[in-house]
Amino acid sequence: MSLIKFENVVKKFNGVAVLDGLSFDVEKGEVLALVGPSGTGKSVTLKHLVRLLTPTSGKITVDGIDVSSCSSKELTHIRSRIGYLFQGGALLAWMSVAENVALPLRECTNLKDSEIDEKVAAALASVELSAAAEKLPSEISGGMQKRAGLARAIVRESDIVLYDEPTSGLDPVTSVTINRLIKKLNKELGITSIVVTHDLQGALNIADRILLIKEGKAIECSKPEEFVNSQNPAVKEFLAAMKGEIV
Ligand SMILES: Nc1ncnc2c1ncn2[C@@H]1O[C@H](COP(=O)(O)OP(=O)(O)O)[C@@H](O)[C@H]1O
Ligand SMILES: [Mg+2]
Repeated sequence: MSLIKFENVVKKFNGVAVLDGLSFDVEKGEVLALVGPSGTGKSVTLKHLVRLLTPTSGKITVDGIDVSSCSSKELTHIRSRIGYLFQGGALLAWMSVAENVALPLRECTNLKDSEIDEKVAAALASVELSAAAEKLPSEISGGMQKRAGLARAIVRESDIVLYDEPTSGLDPVTSVTINRLIKKLNKELGITSIVVTHDLQGALNIADRILLIKEGKAIECSKPEEFVNSQNPAVKEFLAAMKGEIV
């Protein structure tokens, strides 16, 4: 059974279908890169997994549980399993890195301070940010801010992490670091990952499979080497557009 499954999901806003019969699945332990033109429904797709949005029709399951119709208790459990690195990152400016990372534990658990400190330290170590624990977000670089967001996304020991454009706005060297960390968290902690990205090279490097979404539908979902050699006209068009951007 796939860990995550979208079955024929339609999502309409004001009568307009943004997701238009989207189907795909993600296996446990897999890194799936989600690519496609802007405005094609990638962020909307991620939001459905934690019921920030509900589908107009179709079904989304996490570990066999229907996310849009499950009880609030089941939803709380699903949300606790899913770390979410939102587009933009969003750290609170007046709190230290460590305090930002501790937030999900303070809000959603009854752990003692000493236990929280331990988990925060472990999460910061995983993203190689221990030295910046006491700094304010404004005192660290953009790449470090992303890593702090990453630590916050995994601090509840989530086994699924959703990354929405984790490398956008970063320089190429920092992007490589973030991609390496995503892969490391996947390998070392077994974190199943969906990575929405415009960074095709990064996707090719870290993903087990690449899913191209266009006009709310899954166009192709294949291994990196198959994806770059695909004869599907929509994939070829997408790859040509990406190369145009890189050159
Ligand atoms: N809450 C919302 N209400 C109305 N329209 C929305 C909402 N969220 C997203 N959309 C629209 O859905 C489309 C896809 O958005 P999004 O998933 O953010 O695209 P992207 O693939 O760039 O992440 C866009 O046209 C956006 O304006
Ligand atoms: Mg988006």
